[in-house]
Amino acid sequence: MPYYRRVGEVPPKRHTQFRQPDGSLYAEELMGQEGFSSDSSLLYHRHLPTAIVAAEEYDPPAYARVANRPLKPRHFATHKLDAGGTDPILGRQPLLANDDVHISYVAADRPSPLYRNAIGDECVYVESGSVRLESTFGALELSAGDYAIIPTSVIHRYVPSGSPAEPVRMLSVAATGHIGPPKRYLSARGQFLEHSPYCERDLRGPAAPLLADGTDVPVYVWHRRGWSLHTYAHHPFDVVGWDGHLYPWAFSIHDFEPITGRVHQPPPVHQTFQGPNFVICSFVPRKVDYHPLAIPVPYNHHNVDSDEVLFYTGGNYEARRGSGIGQGSISLHPSGFTHGPQPGAPERAIGAEFFDELAVMVDTFRPLDLCEPALACEDAAYAWTWAHRPAQ
Ligand SMILES: [Fe+2]
Repeated sequence: MPYYRRVGEVPPKRHTQFRQPDGSLYAEELMGQEGFSSDSSLLYHRHLPTAIVAAEEYDPPAYARVANRPLKPRHFATHKLDAGGTDPILGRQPLLANDDVHISYVAADRPSPLYRNAIGDECVYVESGSVRLESTFGALELSAGDYAIIPTSVIHRYVPSGSPAEPVRMLSVAATGHIGPPKRYLSARGQFLEHSPYCERDLRGPAAPLLADGTDVPVYVWHRRGWSLHTYAHHPFDVVGWDGHLYPWAFSIHDFEPITGRVHQPPPVHQTFQGPNFVICSFVPRKVDYHPLAIPVPYNHHNVDSDEVLFYTGGNYEARRGSGIGQGSISLHPSGFTHGPQPGAPERAIGAEFFDELAVMVDTFRPLDLCEPALACEDAAYAWTWAHRPAQ
């Protein structure tokens, strides 16, 4: 994260004696990236964060994963997947994956177990419903339109907080490495620059310590060689204070200020985050191109180095009208295929002044494989909609 945050009690000097009310020492923990050479935080635990009493292998449900062959644009209707009866971690249904990112979707109605992703940061996006993200750093309340970035190895869990009848729907992007704001929007010292579409005031971090009691507490760990289940001697939520630049944080897509122009602006203006070999972009409601002869929908394009994933999460996505795309749809436009607006969309868009659309895009620089749940909700006719399906 670009800026320093301090929550709860910390001693005035790092690495010095900091005592509990009974006179014993708090256990200091440094969580840091890149071998003590990048962002970090110091946390002060009531108990040893090292104390585990058991470790077991864990095998999550196995899903087949296949290459996108024959190479085709794809449409996955995530709302056709099972909803409810599961939690936001173990219930995730993998959709698209490569060696850099795993993209999955869940509609969950119950709390998750404690979880630690030791492979990389996660970016989750809440499509609908509300959920409380609890971690060793504190809690964050998330609702529709919120992104949350959870740094690598932060122990956390999700507790749905909305109506029991409404599952929380979440898209998750799990990286192999760290996710953050685009570097071009940050100063040398990490402050958001004036041309950034969002800044520090738009970000939310944990505001208070989150303490829980408990012994023999299970934590699922997704690590570089699979999954394990660790049992901690004491509940990991025992941090009375922390400070630093590394912590989970949230940002609402509704606070993303769109960059517009006289003629069509390229997708990088929508970029919101970057990660190793991928980017995440936000398409938000906005005034559209205002040159007198502008065509507000995108031109046909072939970003030859990327697979493009779009998650349609609100409004009307004008360029895709007539394609079968709807709320909760995901399209995959792979490298090797030129994509563009549906037939008739450019003509219809002429003269438009505003697009009411909300979408999250993930562009990956290496090809994405298709996971079994994606194939189970695929609209197989999508690939031919530029040729055969009449515009609606
Ligand atoms: Fe595109």
